[in-house]
Amino acid sequence: MESARTGRHYQEIAGESQVEPRRLDQDSFSWHSGYTLDLNHLYSPPVPLPHWKVDTQTIVILDFGSQYTQLIARRIREMNVFSVVLPCTVPLSEVQAYKPIGIILSGGPSSVYDADAPKADPRLLELNLPALGICYGLHFIVHHLGGKVRTAPKREYGHAEVALEDTSTRLFAGLPAAIQVWMSHGDEALELPAGFRRTAVTSSALAAIANEDRRIWAVQFHPEVHHTPLGAQLIRNFVFNICGAKGDWTAAHFIETTVASIREKVGKGHVICGLSGGVDSSVAAMLVHKAIGSQLTCIFVNNGVLRKNEFENVQKNLRDKLGLNIVAVDASDRFLRQLAGVTDPETKRKRIGAEFIAVFDDEAHRIATETGGVDWLVQGTLYPDVIESSSVKGPSQTIKSHHNVGGLPERMKLKLIEPLRDLFKDEVRRIGRDMGMPEDILGRQPFPGPGLAVRILGEVTPERVALLQEADDIVVNEIKVAGLYSRIWQSFAVLLPVMSVGVMGDQRTYAYTCAIRAVHSEDGMTADWTFLPHEVLKRISSRIVNEVRGINRVVYDITSKPPGTIEWE
Ligand code: XMP
Repeated sequence: MESARTGRHYQEIAGESQVEPRRLDQDSFSWHSGYTLDLNHLYSPPVPLPHWKVDTQTIVILDFGSQYTQLIARRIREMNVFSVVLPCTVPLSEVQAYKPIGIILSGGPSSVYDADAPKADPRLLELNLPALGICYGLHFIVHHLGGKVRTAPKREYGHAEVALEDTSTRLFAGLPAAIQVWMSHGDEALELPAGFRRTAVTSSALAAIANEDRRIWAVQFHPEVHHTPLGAQLIRNFVFNICGAKGDWTAAHFIETTVASIREKVGKGHVICGLSGGVDSSVAAMLVHKAIGSQLTCIFVNNGVLRKNEFENVQKNLRDKLGLNIVAVDASDRFLRQLAGVTDPETKRKRIGAEFIAVFDDEAHRIATETGGVDWLVQGTLYPDVIESSSVKGPSQTIKSHHNVGGLPERMKLKLIEPLRDLFKDEVRRIGRDMGMPEDILGRQPFPGPGLAVRILGEVTPERVALLQEADDIVVNEIKVAGLYSRIWQSFAVLLPVMSVGVMGDQRTYAYTCAIRAVHSEDGMTADWTFLPHEVLKRISSRIVNEVRGINRVVYDITSKPPGTIEWE
């Protein structure tokens, strides 16, 4: 059995980022307070974009709560086949609505006999569709088709070798007689249902079963993880040989169908979009722009804590090069006034959040007056957010929004367009590339919505923002020059309120300290501090101390998350 999935909350305020629930729990007024409003109360639920779901071959993955479920979807999508994760509790009709060519039952942390075992409709196995059970999925199949599952005398967790006893089964086509796999279970099948046979074993337990007549296969191990090196071949066998997928779900297909459906949905309506300059909001805006051109107005707010030249660069990239219709609002003074005297990290976030909503609201109303009304709001919500909010482990009541503009008054009655809600981040980048968007936007590291404010410890003043902008710019550039930027999850400078003595030329200095942070991470939930070559650190340090008047000492942060966090505030 697997450990329960950890909840993941992705948020973006005016930046590109992932956020974890730790701070959400910290006080009852969420740390995104002001941003994390329940959009359900303010907006109509997202209107699903029609067409492409039905004219694309789909593999439906039913999520029984495994931490690996998203990986199954990714593996299949990497093969240019569309796959969708649905909570295992969905009604049969919802599964059928996708007209799937096959079904995968995921792993999960429960035992089929647990009182709180996820309840899926066993008629799933009677839809006459090819089915593949993985781990808990195998137990589900055995249990519901008349076999027996028990707690295994020996729990299997980690690497194992599996002997494929029956390589004639289509699922194992092209695989050798023994494969390395990743196991993670405490239950095992004791008796197989009628018509099933064992097709693979480990030294201590059954590893796979099949009933070719009913087109049902199941494996005890996890083919979707990298620790099962030939797992992709097994999934490929299921998707192509068994389900008959064509592999025609490509970026071009996605763009074409999404653009067509946005066009049809929006008609003559007017759409607004909060642009952050990050990957998600930019690609979402670009798709909508392709569909309806000038009926889309993007609002890009300078909150005074953007990176150096960011306000100009985003406009250059998106308006001048790509033709997006952008209203750029320089509200730095408003934001910095709100931040004067504030040192508490949560208060900074709340102030920035509230101000962002106020500015966005003003602009939205102005645009509505000019255009005769605004009907839609574009959000860059990604698939992981969608899966999280419908997780079998307990649906979240809050729509996790990438553009936390939840303060728009209800009377605006905006409907949401979320063109990326079926995509993973790397797929968003692929789509962006296909639309000719610059690497400068697509390859960006995540940046927190409250911007440099959470990297300036202590009070945020215009002078300190300017200091950090310079130091940050040096870090980003040197990391880029060293060819490391795209290989690091986040790398940045933090301005500390610590002053120390230094000496420059003949003069003593007394100035601030700057910390350099560079971390590796998969998703922002956990992170390891990363080595930077000495040469790079040396250049960064000497450039900052020499070029940024006001900083005379540079230190390197060697804290991983946990126990640290990525940002310092
Ligand atoms: P922490 O510091 O919690 O950060 O380890 C995890 C990820 O989230 C980003 N982050 C934020 N993103 N608003 C955001 O939109 C925020 O207030 C915020 N705080 C942190 C951070 O950059 C990292 O990628």
